[in-house]
Amino acid sequence: MTVTVDQSAFRGALGRFASGVTVVTTVLDGVDHAMTASAFTSVSLDPPLVLICSHKTNRFHDAVLESGIWGVSILAEEGIDASAWFAHKGRPLETQFDEIPHRRGDTGVVLLEQSLSWLECRTETVVDGGDHTILIGAVVGAGVRDDLDDPLLYYRSHYGTIVRLPASEKTVYGGQA
Ligand SMILES: Cc1cc2nc3c(=O)[nH]c(=O)nc-3n(C[C@H](O)[C@H](O)[C@H](O)COP(=O)(O)O)c2cc1C
Repeated sequence: MTVTVDQSAFRGALGRFASGVTVVTTVLDGVDHAMTASAFTSVSLDPPLVLICSHKTNRFHDAVLESGIWGVSILAEEGIDASAWFAHKGRPLETQFDEIPHRRGDTGVVLLEQSLSWLECRTETVVDGGDHTILIGAVVGAGVRDDLDDPLLYYRSHYGTIVRLPASEKTVYGGQA
């Protein structure tokens, strides 16, 4: 029996998974590429691996497959405008970082300042994922910024940030600290 999922139920279910927001970057032949991405996941601590998923039609997609290096800027709440900008189809490549505070990492990729943390990766494995490609990367650099602490979140097509609950990470099941 073939079971097919209802498209709107599928999208609705995925939209109810709250995520952080990243801007992933690469550089190819001196041209910087970028893309807002929520499909970012930690994979392995030892060795250090993470993954991102890129739609095959995004300009970032072909560039990152060729370059083999990428940065992940995990956005702070302050990065909301950058998130919208790097999700905007057809923005000019050459000037897309002009208004965005940034620096370059050791691999040469752009890293955004309005971030809580950064990773630099070398592509280790490429997996076909339907209309997306999954890139698993070996993490070759990482850093955190301690003066910002509120993440940019994405939930049901809206941006937000966190509310810390009174029962936070120090509370374990059963209420015993
Ligand atoms: C919050 C948010 C998360 C997104 N996450 C992804 C993602 O994980 N993978 C992806 O391929 N596109 C994602 N997109 C869409 C891309 O950012 C967008 O299609 C791309 O930047 C278009 O750039 P281009 O014109 O250079 O191809 C996301 C968009 C938003 C607003």
